[in-house]
Amino acid sequence: MMLVRMNMKTVLGALCVAVLLFTLFWGHCGDFSRRPLGSVLSEHGHGADDIECIINGEYSVSCRRDRERDDVYVPFSLVHKYFEIYGKITTTDGVEKFEWSHSYGKIYHPKKKYDPRGTFTTFENYNVEVRDRVKCISGIEGVPISTQWDPKGFFYPTQIAQFGLAHYSKFLTEAEPRRRIIDDGEKHIENWIVSKDAFMVREYDSESQTNILRFSTSDHVSSQVWLKVNISQDFVLSADVMMKPNSSMTVVLQNKEKKETVYLHYVASTQLIYAQDDHIYYGIGVEQKWRKITRDLIIDMQKGWILQDRPKRRSPRNKFKISSVILSGTGGLDNVTVSSSEHMAQFYAAASWLVRAQRGRGGWPVPARRRVAAGVADLAPGWYSAMSQGHAISVLARAYSRSGDVTYLQAARRALYVLDVPSHAGGVKALWMDKFVWYEEYPTKPPLFVLNGFIYTLLGLYDLHVIEGENSMSLAKKMFDDGMTSLKTLLPLFDTGSGSFYDLRHFTLGVSPNIARWDYHATHVNQLYLLAGLDDDPILLNTAKRWEGYMQGKRAAHN
Ligand SMILES: *[C@@H]1O[C@H](CO)[C@@H](O)[C@H](O)[C@H]1NC(C)=O
Ligand SMILES: *[C@@H]1O[C@H](CO)[C@@H](O)[C@H](O)[C@H]1NC(C)=O
Ligand SMILES: *[C@@H]1O[C@H](CO)[C@@H](O)[C@H](O)[C@H]1NC(C)=O
Repeated sequence: MMLVRMNMKTVLGALCVAVLLFTLFWGHCGDFSRRPLGSVLSEHGHGADDIECIINGEYSVSCRRDRERDDVYVPFSLVHKYFEIYGKITTTDGVEKFEWSHSYGKIYHPKKKYDPRGTFTTFENYNVEVRDRVKCISGIEGVPISTQWDPKGFFYPTQIAQFGLAHYSKFLTEAEPRRRIIDDGEKHIENWIVSKDAFMVREYDSESQTNILRFSTSDHVSSQVWLKVNISQDFVLSADVMMKPNSSMTVVLQNKEKKETVYLHYVASTQLIYAQDDHIYYGIGVEQKWRKITRDLIIDMQKGWILQDRPKRRSPRNKFKISSVILSGTGGLDNVTVSSSEHMAQFYAAASWLVRAQRGRGGWPVPARRRVAAGVADLAPGWYSAMSQGHAISVLARAYSRSGDVTYLQAARRALYVLDVPSHAGGVKALWMDKFVWYEEYPTKPPLFVLNGFIYTLLGLYDLHVIEGENSMSLAKKMFDDGMTSLKTLLPLFDTGSGSFYDLRHFTLGVSPNIARWDYHATHVNQLYLLAGLDDDPILLNTAKRWEGYMQGKRAAHN
């Protein structure tokens, strides 16, 4: 069988070549010869004439007509705009092909059941801090500052939780980081250079019960304590520091090719970020106690450039090295370390920010005004988001299960309270047809019923319920079950027959529907596959599969 089929293929192939040769050399016979010479030569035998295409009687574009094949070719740029189909020329083994795709966005089929102690959905692929809407990572809090709805920058709880969940998920999926201790005052000791009017001593610190480096420099700029290093490849720096106000630790980065020098100053001040030319300043706070700072130097450098409207550069990680560390002012230093990553430090920065910033009602208010949709009042600064609450619970549940510290568990439990307060009373809860509960990502009046934010909230509830020990009487469990009933009831309303709706504003505002972009549609599909692993109601898996099909151009049949 195999052999015969192969022979048939070869024969077909030969035939094709013959047809091609025939058209090339003898094509002038027959109807081919009646075409203009130019089109014959340019089309390698498949002559095509220009023809005007009229689109819905509204406008026209120039197309090609191939009489021999009895077909009309329209420019792909038109197809792209008209149908939102994506295409690009690709090359494999020197052969060019045109690749057409109906959608973008990636679907992940879960390999195992979702685990509240494991990665958060597919967040190991997220890089929150590189996003343009992240102004920088706060030197005091170690969490991102958002400029999404306010250029001044503010703490956006959803973004901070996502930063934590991304680092937690990366910690679980990435290889053990490379870590190099530069100076810990014990096993690793470096020769710091002390200028004439500066002072440095190694001594036992009774507060931290360890040997530390104590330094003091005079007001003169040349008065410094500095260390020459030569470190490429890894750029996450951590250190224990305690400094008097305005003292600083400066990390010097050098571009290996361009002989460019960038100074990252970590200053005992309350300033968020300040940048001037090659000097970038981050305030790390003025509290007189030991604290650990963990900084991604490349991110810190890039955010300083963006602040000065300098263009983003590609892969600076490969071009820079750490060339020195400079101390000035008065303070103490210990455990200076350079690593390839410190995901858990970043995760705990987010978790402890959430504990500190939580308000009395268990909520994390968003301090920026949010314009959600035309015809709906803006959300005034101080609004709550069910998605922030849910994401925060997911962070806190993981922090509790890793550390055993009940502070995290208590904060996660308190976060339920806001979820149960109706939007009109300052909470985030809406009801569909006065019956089905919906936790609102944006608690507008009337409600919008945003799908992805609602499902993320459900995941937070699930996380808490499982971490609490699967107690069937738990409040989180009841809220999760109620939410799942709503989801299964309302899911068909989000189906467009060829994609999904982002929200239900076409019902509640009476405006035209808000169709989900493909990346949001892919998020919906990924979320439904995940939930299908927790609840065997077929509507979840069937909807996920049908919606995945929409991404390859499948559509619901018509009558
Ligand atoms: C430096 O690290 C060691 C080991 O983790 C720790 O015991 C010590 O307290 C740290 N130093 C400071 C000043 O926190
Ligand atoms: C720094 O280290 C690299 C190898 O990582 C080496 O090629 C280079 O010569 C070193 N530079 C200096 C100034 O020591
Ligand atoms: C720190 O520096 C700022 C600006 O240079 C100055 O206004 C302030 O007085 C200084 N604070 C201390 C405690 O030296």
